[in-house]
Amino acid sequence: MPTALIVLAAGQGSRMQSDLPKVLHRVAHAPLLIHALRGAEGLSPERTVIVAGHGGDAVEAAARDHDEGLVVVRQEEQLGTGHAVLRARAALEGFSGDVIVLYGDTPFIRAETLEAMLEARRDGADIVVLGFEAEDPGRYGRLVVEGDRLDRIVEARDATAEELGVRLCNSGVMCADAGLMFDLLDRVGRDNAAGEYYLTDLPGLARADGLTTRVVTCPEVETMGVNTRTDLAMAEAAFQAATRLEVMATGATLTAPDTVFFAHDTAIGRDVTIEPHVIFGPGVTVESGATIRAFSHLEGCHVSDACVIGPYARLRPGAELDRGVRVGNFVEVKAATVQEGAKINHLSYVGDAEVGAGANIGAGTITCNYDGVFKHRTVIGAGAFIGSNTALVAPVTVGAGAMTGSGSVVTMDVPDGALALGRAKQVNKDGFAARLMARLRAARARKTN
Ligand code: UD1
Ligand code: CA
Repeated sequence: MPTALIVLAAGQGSRMQSDLPKVLHRVAHAPLLIHALRGAEGLSPERTVIVAGHGGDAVEAAARDHDEGLVVVRQEEQLGTGHAVLRARAALEGFSGDVIVLYGDTPFIRAETLEAMLEARRDGADIVVLGFEAEDPGRYGRLVVEGDRLDRIVEARDATAEELGVRLCNSGVMCADAGLMFDLLDRVGRDNAAGEYYLTDLPGLARADGLTTRVVTCPEVETMGVNTRTDLAMAEAAFQAATRLEVMATGATLTAPDTVFFAHDTAIGRDVTIEPHVIFGPGVTVESGATIRAFSHLEGCHVSDACVIGPYARLRPGAELDRGVRVGNFVEVKAATVQEGAKINHLSYVGDAEVGAGANIGAGTITCNYDGVFKHRTVIGAGAFIGSNTALVAPVTVGAGAMTGSGSVVTMDVPDGALALGRAKQVNKDGFAARLMARLRAARARKTN
C-alpha cells in the first residue's frame, strides 16, 4: 500500500520569540523540519507534502534544499490543524493509499513507530493515532479510549475535569486512508474553545460512522515537541544523548560521552576513539581506528583510518585526510587534501592546499592563501620537509622531497629535491654584544650616581 506524508509546518511558533519560523530552528545543525522528515523517510513515501505558512519562503527553501521532490503548499491563515491538512488535498490528487500526518516541530518520531501505525492499518483500523503516556499531560489533547478502541480526542481547552485526568495523550501523528481523511475533514467545524478546525475531531466522527479507530503508543521522549527555546535545548540534549549511545553501540570509544557533541549527519567508524570535549559540525566522517583527541573541532571533513587528530585541532570544510595522517595541537586545516602519513603537528594553518604523502610540515607553517580578493593553492610534494615557521605564499609549489629552511618566506616554486632558503642571511659580529652591554651598564651607573 503506497504511503504519503503531510507535514504541518505553518504555525508561527510565537513562544520561540524568533524571526525564524519555528520548524527551521536547528537541532544538531539540522532544522527541526528535516529531523521530522528523516524518521518518515524510512517508509519511502510516494509523496511528501509540507504545509507552510509563517516564513513560508524560508521553509520552502529549506525543504527543497533537503529534497527537490518535496511538495510545499501554503496555508496563509492558520485556522487549525484540520484546516492545514486540507491544504494538502490538491497536492495529493490522484494518490490512493495511506496518509500519515506529522508535525514539523516534533523531530524524533522513529520509522519503527510509524511502521507500527501502518501495521495497525493493515490489521483493519480505519484511523490510527499515535499516543503516549504523558508525565505532565498539560495542554495535550487527551485520548478517550474504550478497550483498545479510540473513542475520541478531546483538546485540553475543551475537556471536562474528568477528561483532563486522562494521561494518555495525542502526539499529533495520525494515519488513515487519504480519501477517508479528506472526506471526514470536510465535516469538521470550528465550534470549540479555540475556534479552530481540529484534526483531532476525526476519530470521533469516524466512530460515529461505525469505523474502527485505534491508538498505537510510543515513549514520551519520541513525541517531544518544540515550542520554546527551552524545549529546543531539551531536544538538542535528547538528540546528543541518543547519538552518543548509538556511536558507542557501533564500536567507538567515548572517554567522556557527555562532553562530545555530534551533528545530525556525523559518521563514526568502528574502533574510533574520541577523547573529551570534541565538537562535530555538519558533514564529518571519521573512519575506523582514528583517534580524535581532546578539545578538537571538526566540520565538513573526512578523517581516514589510523589518523590522530588533536588535541586542540581544527578541521574545517574540505579537509580530506588520508590514512595515518597526524594533525596536532593548534593546527587548522581547510580545503586541503593531506596524503597518507603526512604530519602537521604544531601551530600551523594549511588552507587551499595539497600535502603529499609522508610530508612533514614544521611548527608554525602558514599557507598564505588569500591576497584579499582571491584564494590561491599551495602544493607540497610527497616527502617534502617544510621548516618551522615557513610562510608559503600561494600560488606556490614545493616539489617532492624538497625542503624549506626555517623562517623562509617562499614565493617561488621549489624544484623536487631542492632546498629553498627565503630569509635574510645571518651575520655574526664578534664581541659586539659584550661591548654593547658594557656601554649600557656604564650609562646606567652614571645616571644613578
Ligand atoms: C496539537 C493537537 C493536540 C496534541 C498536540 C501534540 C490539535 C487540534 N491538537 O495541539 O491534540 O496533543 O498537538 O503536540 O491538532 N499547524 C499548522 N496550521 C495550523 C495550526 C497548526 O500548520 O493552522 C501546525 C503547527 O505549526 C504545528 C502543528 O500544526 O507544527 C501543531 O499545531 P499546534 O498549534 O502546536 O497544536 P497544539 O495546540 O500543540
Ligand atoms: Ca504544539
